[in-house]
Amino acid sequence: MGNCFCKPKSKRKPKPYRLPTSTIGSPISDTHLIISDVLDYGSNDEYRFIDGRRFHNVENSKYFLPCDDDEFDRLYIKHYICKHIWQRNYSAPVKERLSSGGAHVLDVGCGPGTWLIEMSNEFPKSHFTGIDISPVFPREGKPDNADFMEANILDGLPFEDNVFDYVHMRFLITSFSTNDWKAAINEIIRVTKSGGIIEIVEEELEPRNDGPISRLLFSALLMDLTSRCIDFTIYSRMLDLLNDIESLTDVKKEEIMTPYGKWAGRIGSLLSDNTGLLFRTFKTRFLSTLGVENEVEYDKLIEAWYEELNEYKPYNVGYRFLATKK
Ligand SMILES: C[S@@+](CC[C@H](N)C(=O)[O-])C[C@H]1O[C@@H](n2cnc3c(N)ncnc32)[C@H](O)[C@@H]1O
Repeated sequence: MGNCFCKPKSKRKPKPYRLPTSTIGSPISDTHLIISDVLDYGSNDEYRFIDGRRFHNVENSKYFLPCDDDEFDRLYIKHYICKHIWQRNYSAPVKERLSSGGAHVLDVGCGPGTWLIEMSNEFPKSHFTGIDISPVFPREGKPDNADFMEANILDGLPFEDNVFDYVHMRFLITSFSTNDWKAAINEIIRVTKSGGIIEIVEEELEPRNDGPISRLLFSALLMDLTSRCIDFTIYSRMLDLLNDIESLTDVKKEEIMTPYGKWAGRIGSLLSDNTGLLFRTFKTRFLSTLGVENEVEYDKLIEAWYEELNEYKPYNVGYRFLATKK
């Protein structure tokens, strides 16, 4: 087993971990348990509180979604929507590698860790590490082959070069500027082994074929993201971006369309409810952006949006980008 050199929450580039050669009960696991146990989960330094919601407090991060129980519930449901739509948790051809054991998997921006825990249960002989800018992942009741660490990918990942067989990153679309995306992808490539696979999963923020109320509400969201320099259309250039990277090969894109709204049944309804929760989260901010008079009027607008989805029958587009490190 290798040694661990952990420096959590440093603004400087952390000294990298050396990954364990064995897959289960690794030093990462032991060290991380100590780190997460001493974090002050509720301190005001660790988080900011706005309109009764909790947000991260990391200086150089543009990520603006909350990190509290309501958001974890939303992400949990989102995970199962995504799994149902794609009928799988991954598209990368990694099943054999992960089943035979000894493989190291990294999930970047793992959030509450739902994907990672499912994967670590499915592949008990391989080792799974999740990192997130906020310590929102589980500390207890996780499989022995799963570990979580607090780390900001934009500060550099705390791992040595060429250590992961498979790196997964999902739903970071509201986190990065164009340059951040490039930096994050370079960092992912750095820690991926030669022959290792990278999978980036995203979806378009706005449903296609939607109506005027939908346009209005999404305009508030997009204005907010634009003001933070977030590149929320990266999926349209991701294939070119990956293809232009010399160290990558076998770059592919998969695409899936899902009907959006109650008219489309259970999944469509869950999808629109998931976005509806975000519109409600940013009620105070969007009120002024949209020039809506008060909260009652805003709530009426959201209800009208749900109705409008049934009229326009929009759909949502999701993507999976795959690449292999040469
Ligand atoms: C929308 S959530 C998605 C969570 C998870 N990937 C999933 O699919 O359920 C995005 C996550 O990325 C994390 N995140 C945002 N910026 C990050 C960064 N620079 N480094 C690491 N994690 C980041 C957030 O804290 C949040 O937990």
